[in-house]
Amino acid sequence: MTTRSNAPAYLTGFGAHVQTEAVEGALPVGRNSPQRHPLGLYAEQLSGTAFTAPRSENRRSWLYRLRPSAQHPPYTPFDQGRVRSGPFEEAPPTPNRLRWDPLPTPGAPTDWVEGLVTYGGCGDAATQAGVGIHLYAANRSMTDRLFYCADGELLIVPQEGVLTLRTELGVLEAPPGHVAVIPRGVRFRVEVDGPVRGYVCENYGAPFRLPDLGPIGANGLANPRDFETPVAWFEDVDRPTQVIQKFQGRLYATTFDHSPLDVVAWHGNHAPYRYDLARFNTINTVSYDHPDPSIFTVLTSPSDTPGTANCDFVIFPPRWMVAEDTFRPPWFHRNVMSEFMGLVHGAYDAKEGGFAPGGASLHNCMSGHGPDQASYDKAVQAELKPHKIENTLAFMFETRWVIRPTAWALQTPQMQLDYDDVWTGFEKGRATP
Ligand SMILES: [Fe+2]
Repeated sequence: MTTRSNAPAYLTGFGAHVQTEAVEGALPVGRNSPQRHPLGLYAEQLSGTAFTAPRSENRRSWLYRLRPSAQHPPYTPFDQGRVRSGPFEEAPPTPNRLRWDPLPTPGAPTDWVEGLVTYGGCGDAATQAGVGIHLYAANRSMTDRLFYCADGELLIVPQEGVLTLRTELGVLEAPPGHVAVIPRGVRFRVEVDGPVRGYVCENYGAPFRLPDLGPIGANGLANPRDFETPVAWFEDVDRPTQVIQKFQGRLYATTFDHSPLDVVAWHGNHAPYRYDLARFNTINTVSYDHPDPSIFTVLTSPSDTPGTANCDFVIFPPRWMVAEDTFRPPWFHRNVMSEFMGLVHGAYDAKEGGFAPGGASLHNCMSGHGPDQASYDKAVQAELKPHKIENTLAFMFETRWVIRPTAWALQTPQMQLDYDDVWTGFEKGRATP
């Protein structure tokens, strides 16, 4: 077995066309598919968008590997576990607000794939629109097993424990506070060193990209240079390796007689990446009111309707609050978009309790929500001095389509049956001066 450079190393820049080789001479110069590769490697194009997608949106990489990807026996159905997919028709969509306690650490040895559980989603993998929302709780590394998703890219939000993502295109480390994105089709193994827990947005739609900045200007929010793509890394392992894939909502598996993490060099822009959310340049008001939470968008997957996202990934990071004469926490609102929230650490400023790190909430299309009563009472009585919200990191997957919970999500004991109570007992306002 040969494994080149186990320590992760990165190239920087969002969506950049990069080239990287783990062995000198593995990357052909000037042409993508030479007649004979100098090392006898096999060239393979991995396309993440249609060949003819506009250049600004086109994603593809050329991989130079020890064996062709095609060299494997047929896939057969694999136990679905608690993984579900769009169209989400197990249970009727509910207009009710939902909230869940964190997933417990598994009692039995569980790897990342075995520890995935789907809470809900929208759209359909078949039509390449919508998202699947999964959480994971695991405690052992995947061994002689890889996973890939043909249904979409995976945005992984670790909440507890560091994930080492060994992918076809290199090694990423993703501790809590970072996010990692594995593109559609890229095979990977998750290694852990103890219990891990986190969230996954499986994006069936257009790949995540940086949002336009409009009047904000050329800088701000997530800056392109802070995105990190791994350098080429491979393993030369002639040992049976199970590859599980998600394809059209179902899981399938086959066994390769080798590890297909055997890409010695690659170039292109269809590649995994990670991002440290602490680098986010948070922008907010310096006078009164506060902007819509879209100001906190890290990544967006556009839909066919301009400005109406298939999915936005939005964070609520540490930041200064300075607004004058303003109710500072998130206001009450009803939104045509549907909102699935998670919490990496700390407390979210619209909830005094009940929304724990590792927990989740769902506020679907037009369901009224906002601060709980304790947060409201505190906010309207607060003396409005500059104040820093610290030690917190909440996030939201926001989508134009209603998020339909799975049967598991509606039946799990983690679901809080009393969530509506956080909005009871508000004192009535006066209709007279
Ligand atoms: Fe909301």
